[in-house]
Amino acid sequence: MSTKETLIQYLNEDLAAEYGTIIRYSYQSGKAFGLMGSELRALLAREIADELGHAAFLNDVIVDLGGEPVTTPATFDKPESLREMLVRDEQMELQDVKNYVAHAELADKLGFVELKLKLEEMAADEAGHARELRRILKGM
Ligand SMILES: [Fe+2]
Ligand SMILES: [Fe+2]
Repeated sequence: MSTKETLIQYLNEDLAAEYGTIIRYSYQSGKAFGLMGSELRALLAREIADELGHAAFLNDVIVDLGGEPVTTPATFDKPESLREMLVRDEQMELQDVKNYVAHAELADKLGFVELKLKLEEMAADEAGHARELRRILKGM
């Protein structure tokens, strides 16, 4: 079903995921120690800023489409080791890429040109986050 309501529902899932990521990265920053931890904290701070931008955009678009934005974050696991956290973070970023690409296609089908391009840009942002996480993981 390719309707505006379906698109609003997907964008709300994306918004909940963004909120979850912001909380997850804030939590993980507090659990990052030492020399490696300081690089990770800087990376997470940059990514949190990006995710806040994504969430702000999604709020505006959902309202513009006539929907009601969610305010509840997606839940997430809290693995014991920092390495395991980052492995899951990378997987979740790659899942976000897939979601944004799929939702961009739906936006395109419905004729929302700006939304299509912006969602593709956000997919690229998430792919960049995954790449930066892989860099950190290589050094662990
Ligand atoms: Fe994001
Ligand atoms: Fe991200």
